[in-house]
Amino acid sequence: MTNPAPTIAPAAPSQTGLRGAVVGDTKLSSINGERGELIYRGIDIRELAVNSTFEEIAYLLWFGALPTAAHLNKFRAQLNERRKLPPEIISLLRCLPPSRIPMNILRTMVSALGVLDPRGAEMSRESQVDKALTLTASVPSILAAYHRISEGLDPIKPDPELDTAANFLQMFTGKAPDAQAVRVLDAALILHADHGMNASTFAAIVTAATLSDMYSAITSAIGALKGPLHGGANEGVIMNLLEIGDIENVDPWVAGKLDAHEKIMGFGHAVYKAYDPRAAELKRIAKEVGTRAGTTKWIEMTERMEKSVWERKQLYPNVDLYSASVYYTLGIPTQYFTPVFAISRVVGWCAHIIEQYADNKLIRPRANYVGPRGVKYVPIDQRSEDIEL
Ligand code: COA
Repeated sequence: MTNPAPTIAPAAPSQTGLRGAVVGDTKLSSINGERGELIYRGIDIRELAVNSTFEEIAYLLWFGALPTAAHLNKFRAQLNERRKLPPEIISLLRCLPPSRIPMNILRTMVSALGVLDPRGAEMSRESQVDKALTLTASVPSILAAYHRISEGLDPIKPDPELDTAANFLQMFTGKAPDAQAVRVLDAALILHADHGMNASTFAAIVTAATLSDMYSAITSAIGALKGPLHGGANEGVIMNLLEIGDIENVDPWVAGKLDAHEKIMGFGHAVYKAYDPRAAELKRIAKEVGTRAGTTKWIEMTERMEKSVWERKQLYPNVDLYSASVYYTLGIPTQYFTPVFAISRVVGWCAHIIEQYADNKLIRPRANYVGPRGVKYVPIDQRSEDIEL
């Protein structure tokens, strides 16, 4: 007698994109999509953007509370000790062709850092924090070094006196950055550090939940962040503004895109049904930066685009809309916009990975099979010529 065929519980109706699905508990950040609010460890992002620093945010997310002055100084020193890249990474960067997509370079170098770390596979909490520090310190150094090498210049050594934003700007441009540029970039880094179960964080924890190492999880996350529907959108925003060229052309351009059912980068969000609080902060910052630099053109065009998209489609801007003009006005080349996002988000990824390891469960959803059943194997010489791949 043959065994009866196993019964498989019918799959839930397909929930494309897992909207609303809960993957687990987190104490790190929470979005209230209806009210347009975001908190890190309970603190409103708007309060943090104005009062805090990126290093404080990393500490807050990893250790659960804002640091004392002594703890912060120690933490900053720990990051600074790790900013200098291993010589193998510099050699690899020199081997790669110049001017390739920086997110691909970053993904490859983070993976290479994992190869170089002799404690890469260690899973103790102390080792996880050590790797999180190494990754957070190394990402800006990798990007700045590749940019310099692409320009035919030598990488600039990190300055042990400077924090992440200032160090990145100095290593990237070769010039000591002014205090306002540092403060602006620092605020942008604060605003991008974590954002609930976004696509790249999910990619990171899916990898971590197999008990793979942190470098592998961050490599997965970088691949996910790169896409134009996620972190890649900020590059799309500036490309659009450059294509539009002038404020007079904004309305017809927006109408053309929406009539053609094309997505406009920097608008819409899977969770927010109200104004993204990060976009509101970045809009304020973009106005300040533009006014100070004497180039308000981009922010004015962006505001016009916001108005036009709202009137026609009632879509709110997201974080990428105004970060684009902030970075552009700071003189950061377009292809480095998404990498700047990664400089910040690596902190959130590491926090979620550490949280995942502390209470791990393999993440293994199901797919709703909608294909045929009972199909018979056809020998190769009897197969139809009509089927094309
Ligand atoms: N431009 C034009 N229309 C948009 C849009 C955009 N940026 N975002 C959403 N829409 C429209 C869709 O065309 C769709 O319209 P329809 O109902 O008339 O067909 C509707 O809004 C729902 O779109 P959908 O893609 O299902 O919404 P979502 O909530 O799943 O998508 C995003 C969220 C972020 C993927 C989506 O808004 C998007 O692609 N935005 C542009 C990329 C971007 O800025 N990403 C950064 C996110 S922080």
